[in-house]
Amino acid sequence: MSQPILNVLAVVGSLNRNSSTRSVINLVVGQLKAEGCAVDVLDLLGEPLPLFNPDSAHGAEGFSALKSRVERAAVYILGTPDYHGSISSALKNFLDHFWEEFAGKLFATIVASHEKGLTVTDQLRTVARQCYAWSLPYGVAFADQLDVQEGRVVSDSLDERLKMLVHDVRVYGQLLAGQRRADLAGTAPGFLAKHRK
Ligand SMILES: Cc1cc2nc3c(=O)[nH]c(=O)nc-3n(C[C@H](O)[C@H](O)[C@H](O)COP(=O)(O)O)c2cc1C
Repeated sequence: MSQPILNVLAVVGSLNRNSSTRSVINLVVGQLKAEGCAVDVLDLLGEPLPLFNPDSAHGAEGFSALKSRVERAAVYILGTPDYHGSISSALKNFLDHFWEEFAGKLFATIVASHEKGLTVTDQLRTVARQCYAWSLPYGVAFADQLDVQEGRVVSDSLDERLKMLVHDVRVYGQLLAGQRRADLAGTAPGFLAKHRK
């Protein structure tokens, strides 16, 4: 039986007009589309989100449309620059708006950093855990100017790691999405039981 198309949401978490994060995300988006995935891009520069306020965020203009996009996705590609060893405030603000929507889904992370971005990757893995999401067992990090020049990936090793990420997003994204659908439709006592409608 053929599997449903894998829905991916790619988030550009840099507000820099000439962002290397955006360049790398766009490359990955093109590769995922070529592999048959349906990919939606949320570029927080072009679609700014109000600062999360628990009293008003869910009623804000445009929120329900964004929520539908987040719900539709089975995989989130999260791109962020390394700011002081942390994720960008733009990406954190996006993540703060959601949690249940992420449960049982897959996070794949891409970090622009001169220092391998390990602390940033770990923070995204922590968010995934807190929201009952899965994350790939690795993150991809790169250094702007060294690995990406004038919007193009110029490093063979980064190119290889991105191909690995695209493969793993497709394969593990499909596996997890299939299991999530089965768990939501079933009666077994797994962690998704409490997310049944
Ligand atoms: C406020 C600020 C803090 C930063 N902190 C770090 C840091 O702690 N470690 C690091 O490797 N790079 C740091 N950088 C550099 C950025 O991570 C790097 O330039 C990245 O490529 C920016 O991504 P972008 O091109 O997508 O905007 C910092 C940049 C800014 C503006």
